[in-house]
Amino acid sequence: MTDNRQTHFGFQTVDEDQKAGMVHQVFSSVASKYDVMNDLMSVGIHRVWKTAMMDWLAPRDGQHLLDVAGGTGDVAFRFLDRAPGARVTVCDMTESMLVEGRKRADAVDKADRLAWVTGDAMALPFADNSFDRYTISFGIRNVTRIPDALTEAYRVLKPGGRLVVLEFSQIPVPAMQWAYDRYSFNVIPAMGQAVTGDRDSYQYLVESIRKFPDQGSFAQLIRDAGFGRVQWRNLSMGIAALHSGWKL
Ligand SMILES: C[S@@+](CC[C@H](N)C(=O)[O-])C[C@H]1O[C@@H](n2cnc3c(N)ncnc32)[C@H](O)[C@@H]1O
Repeated sequence: MTDNRQTHFGFQTVDEDQKAGMVHQVFSSVASKYDVMNDLMSVGIHRVWKTAMMDWLAPRDGQHLLDVAGGTGDVAFRFLDRAPGARVTVCDMTESMLVEGRKRADAVDKADRLAWVTGDAMALPFADNSFDRYTISFGIRNVTRIPDALTEAYRVLKPGGRLVVLEFSQIPVPAMQWAYDRYSFNVIPAMGQAVTGDRDSYQYLVESIRKFPDQGSFAQLIRDAGFGRVQWRNLSMGIAALHSGWKL
């Protein structure tokens, strides 16, 4: 008899070993429309959040960034815009997202400073102490075992290295949360259906946002993985948040 541990996939309960395949299916389905949908769903605000991420991360020439769940390369491109003498390795488990990213890199002439690697955040295909910075943007809530991903982040960072996470979060003001829920549950799946023909993937995306831990609980998971000087900043009143920690 098997004894599979269970987890959530949006509001569904599934066996842990099923989740990655289901997440892979979501992002394979949306990859070609991912960037346009990001702009539509957030009315462009994800760009402001990613700018805030770069402001806090403060990229420097010579640094090597690992951007996990890096998808179509949004964070990687922004990092290289700020630090043209840096290098970025983008790692994602969905090959079709990386394919879109590579096309963008060729178009903006950044391919020589980028590497694209297929891999899982919970078992990164990199040696210990390899990177100066680790980022994960709108990725970690999709990972089956978040503590395993954070332990891996710690392992691959060099001593003195820094983790920065951008993720949807929980709004501390109930009236705002109510209004945001109305928007996300009523508008986003319908928009997904209209633009990509795939309502279910966007239903999962909004449900997964509600299942993600609040700011303080997530900060504790980062500390539990070994990081020090853990801090967070709310973005747009907590619709999203940035978390930072250091491998001291
Ligand atoms: C919402 S997209 C974010 C893409 C990009 N970071 C951004 O901010 O636009 C989430 C990405 O996480 C990837 N992903 C989900 N679970 C993963 C895992 N366990 N390991 C690596 N990548 C994963 C998906 O394939 C997808 O490309």
